[in-house]
Amino acid sequence: GPASSGDRRGRGDADNGDDDAVPQVNLILETDTGESKAEDEHAYSARSKLPDWMKKMVGDQPAFGKGGYRSKQQQQSGGGVDRELINKQRKSLPIYDFKDTFIQHVRTHSTTVLVGETGSGKTTQIPQYLLEAGFGNDGLICCTQPRRVAAETLARRVADEVGCTCGAEVGYTVRFKDNTSSLTKIKYMTDGMLLREALLDDTFQRYSVIILDEAHERSINTDVLFGIVKKAVEKRPSLKIVVTSATLDTGKFCEYFGASEPFFIKGRTFPVETHYLQEPCDDYVETSILTVLMIHLKEAAGDILVFLTGQEEIDNAGERLVHQMEELKKSVGDSIVLPELLVLPLTATMPEDVQQKVFDPTPAGCRKVVLATNVAETSITIDNLYYVVDAGFCKQNRYDAKVGLEQLLIVPVSQAQANQRSGRAGRIGPGKAYRLYTEDQYDKDMEAATVPEIQRSNLFHIVLQLKAVGVNDLINFDFMDKPPMETLVGALQKLRYLEALDDDGILTAVGRRMAQLPVDPSQAKTLLTAADLNCAGPVLTIVSMLAVQKKGIFYRPRDKQEIADAKKRAFHQPEGDQLTLMTVYNQWIESGMSEAWAQANFVKHRLLMEARDTREQLQDMLTKRGTRELNQSANKDPVAIRKAITAGYFFNAAKRTNNDMYVTLSDRREVALHPSSSLRELVPKYVIYDELHMTSREYMREVMAIDPAWLTELAPSYYARPKPGKLTKEQMCERLVPTLRAWESGASWRISKQRRKT
Ligand code: CDP
Ligand code: MG
Repeated sequence: GPASSGDRRGRGDADNGDDDAVPQVNLILETDTGESKAEDEHAYSARSKLPDWMKKMVGDQPAFGKGGYRSKQQQQSGGGVDRELINKQRKSLPIYDFKDTFIQHVRTHSTTVLVGETGSGKTTQIPQYLLEAGFGNDGLICCTQPRRVAAETLARRVADEVGCTCGAEVGYTVRFKDNTSSLTKIKYMTDGMLLREALLDDTFQRYSVIILDEAHERSINTDVLFGIVKKAVEKRPSLKIVVTSATLDTGKFCEYFGASEPFFIKGRTFPVETHYLQEPCDDYVETSILTVLMIHLKEAAGDILVFLTGQEEIDNAGERLVHQMEELKKSVGDSIVLPELLVLPLTATMPEDVQQKVFDPTPAGCRKVVLATNVAETSITIDNLYYVVDAGFCKQNRYDAKVGLEQLLIVPVSQAQANQRSGRAGRIGPGKAYRLYTEDQYDKDMEAATVPEIQRSNLFHIVLQLKAVGVNDLINFDFMDKPPMETLVGALQKLRYLEALDDDGILTAVGRRMAQLPVDPSQAKTLLTAADLNCAGPVLTIVSMLAVQKKGIFYRPRDKQEIADAKKRAFHQPEGDQLTLMTVYNQWIESGMSEAWAQANFVKHRLLMEARDTREQLQDMLTKRGTRELNQSANKDPVAIRKAITAGYFFNAAKRTNNDMYVTLSDRREVALHPSSSLRELVPKYVIYDELHMTSREYMREVMAIDPAWLTELAPSYYARPKPGKLTKEQMCERLVPTLRAWESGASWRISKQRRKT
């Protein structure tokens, strides 16, 4: 139940995660819920790769070809959108009655705080109203979304409403996908993309109106945009800002933006009957399946929305649900005709037409079940919903600044989120919400509201972005809610050590190049150093493979563990896991990117293809961003490769103490080699790791052997140069100390007290 949120880490399968982060490289700009970082984006980009249950539900063939999106209405009426129906729908939305007063409000105020229930028409209608009122004449109207899947589906819907193809007057921009043209007047985009645009123009000259949508969600990018657009309006008063929220609690927004009161849209809602479990459940996926079947068999018509936490869970639940329905049908035989159950996923990882299926009208005699992450909480509205099943959890990233540990955890949702979820059942009539937790758990285990993402995230990347936008004084930046000072200062310090900032905290030339790469600053530094050392090719491979390895590229079937382990060992490189990953990739490429090869070697083919895509995109950006010509094949010297990695990851250095135990150089933490590491037998004296993984003990993941001399060579400001004298080389290395950190007096290799997670 919600009480027990363990260390269930699942960076990869998060749908609500860096939705748009193509390079599934650690952490980037666009987060799906803003909640999780790595997004399994390419998972099902090919239809043939859909899991079987999903194929059964959506058919083997796309309903339409590659030529672009066609709505159901277009299909039915042979190409033309049913304008009458769409107009009727538009006019029936609560916001319709407020059209003129809203436009008047925008004309007379520079910032409008717009409040209205989810589904009242804010996201789809406001940009159109503004366009009709002439706001598109001297600039674009943009509407930001914290999640990629929302930006895409909303743009397609609004294009239908406007009566154009998506990409013409209405388009969208998400990471690595720019679906806009010179015709575009209304642009849906992820908040991360707008933030990137601020790097080039912090007054947003291209835009006449900026709508910061879903502001109540407080995604880290939207929070940062608050401060940036506020400044932009001061510099350019003709710019209009609309901040929308689905919750009434807007005092904070009004105060922050200096608005006297919010513009309020009265919605219509129906009562929702809330059901709690009597006893906490152990397995909410299983319970959600049983609940759906119970509703399906016992309750009146109406579609069901199920809230789960991520891609993996949704796949799993979908498969079991479809299977159980089939079993049920078999067991009742021909005597009873069971109504059909159409099970659909709603995540960013689906092909467009599968994504779009959830919006199609449910066929007669059929009930639709949509399995979604918290994207369906407020950003996406599905019609005809009468039932909500809420597992009570979501994925959330948490950052521990002291340890530098970032984790994506499955945590209980807040009471505010739970209420939003339930509310989804009451849009068209009285509905029912089934909460898969007890009332007691709701009262005691759930926070009243979610902590804004900016207060629980690693700010390493966002601080670099802000510096690149020209915000120099971060401590006094106008944050709506200030991030913890410790995290902010930690990020500034790390950027200083990476030489992205100078002593005065001003962005350096290197820092500017780093900011332009949409990857974590450590990775950016690694890539730029690799380009300088002429080994960008192999390092691009390693960075891309490290990203997919977070999802685990090796598999170990229970009945073939030994052979799988042996296959893996054959890839092991004495220099470490980074080089092992590169070897896997290179051999796969040599095999002609063969799926059979991957299978025979117990490597996940899908993740290799994803690594290849990521690699191509990163390579593209590294070349485009004015980095010198990449001579990819030039340097395959493992030393150059390892040095490039060390240049970005020198914070993560550790020294062996005994056996497989190590101690980190930066803060004397006791850490262990992961049992699966290539270095398990060699246990080199000095290593660099990709990240720490906290379980029963702290494990280093993806570990590489280094020469400690590289640390002083590549990070002189972090590791003091050893004092010259009569010291042996070994002793000199022992004296490497992080200069700017407090040093335990007199201690050389004493292990500091560690805070262990229980
Ligand atoms: O932003 P807000 O939650 O206020 O509402 P909205 O997203 O603008 O949704 C207004 C209406 O558009 C809803 O009733 C949805 O049914 C409809 N809609 C749709 O049919 N298909 C979409 N892809 C998006 C919205
Ligand atoms: Mg909306």
